[in-house]
Amino acid sequence: MRAVVHDRYGGPEVLRLEEVERPVPKEDEVLVRIHATTVNRSDCGMRGADPFFTRFFTGLRRPKRRILGMELAGEVEAVGAEVTEFDVGDQVFGVKGSGAHAEYVCIRESAGLAHKPAGMAFEEAAAVCDGASIALACLGKADLREGRSILIYGASGSIGTAAVQLAKHFGAHVTAVCGTKALDLVSSLGADAVIDYTQEDFTTNGETYDVVFDSVGKHSFRRCRHSLKPGGIYIETDLGFMWHVPILALSSRWIGDKRVTLPIPKYSKEDVLFVKELIETGKYRAVIDRTYQLEDVVEATRYVETGQKTGNVVLTLNGVVR
Ligand SMILES: NC(=O)c1ccc[n+]([C@@H]2O[C@H](COP(=O)([O-])OP(=O)(O)OC[C@H]3O[C@@H](n4cnc5c(N)ncnc54)[C@H](OP(=O)(O)O)[C@@H]3O)[C@@H](O)[C@H]2O)c1
Repeated sequence: MRAVVHDRYGGPEVLRLEEVERPVPKEDEVLVRIHATTVNRSDCGMRGADPFFTRFFTGLRRPKRRILGMELAGEVEAVGAEVTEFDVGDQVFGVKGSGAHAEYVCIRESAGLAHKPAGMAFEEAAAVCDGASIALACLGKADLREGRSILIYGASGSIGTAAVQLAKHFGAHVTAVCGTKALDLVSSLGADAVIDYTQEDFTTNGETYDVVFDSVGKHSFRRCRHSLKPGGIYIETDLGFMWHVPILALSSRWIGDKRVTLPIPKYSKEDVLFVKELIETGKYRAVIDRTYQLEDVVEATRYVETGQKTGNVVLTLNGVVR
């Protein structure tokens, strides 16, 4: 099968298309023929071994897993003997640690895999699970419900566009902060108020929130803390300058009444099924910025690494490009 491989850490240019062995499903695994996948920030982090300590998990000198790619949408090609939930020909979508930048991937039946929402294109289904799973892990710390308020900074990113929709679903009052080009999009996702960060600094407008969620790793607790109500929670997605966020997360448990958290995301079937239900009831959609062919993975990756994408960047394996 064709797959995008890399044998050393480095820039996008270390990625190349190669013919490799097609994987064979184990007893509890499903073999999926992939129609669409994505390039996300975690793929880029793993490829560049950034931050450095990730090498302890991905291979000290060179990558242990040659094929990146976390999100997938496609059709079941074969199933292991113990698989009961999926049959050959089923249309599925999901997320796993790596391996989806290829024509086929094996994924455990019990992992983050579900039947694709009816009527949803493969390209869109591929772009659902990563942003939504991370946003769910982050918002899980926020106790969102009616009467609670959240400000989501970086609302135009993959995690941000997911977080706006999920926070609205949980009943919170959502203020979204993004750049000028994404204002209409973010409003259309259900935000109650939208602030253009190029025009207004939310930290000086006197408004306060129960939760501030920096979904793009560009803000800081120090600058946001006066925008939090007493007892408020600041949620981060990044380790921050000199890894100060985990230290703040620990120290804020004992010092002051405002807490900092850096949730560690998990990818579960439960979360995939939860978002699938929201999609099927019209409460969630994936935001796609650009779609590339698998062959153009280097170009797609360079675009993702600009940090300017709106929502998600899709790779397609069946020729559909927009
Ligand atoms: N915790 C985890 O496990 C985990 C996993 C994956 C990623 N992450 C982190 O999560 C963060 C977000 O990932 P993502 O994939 O959602 O990001 P993304 O999609 O790449 O975010 C891009 C968006 O961020 C906006 N943006 C860029 N600079 C900004 C700024 N200074 N202020 C406000 N918005 C800005 C851009 O809008 P404009 O062009 O308008 O600025 C763009 O729409 C990253 O820091 C990433 O490292 C964490």
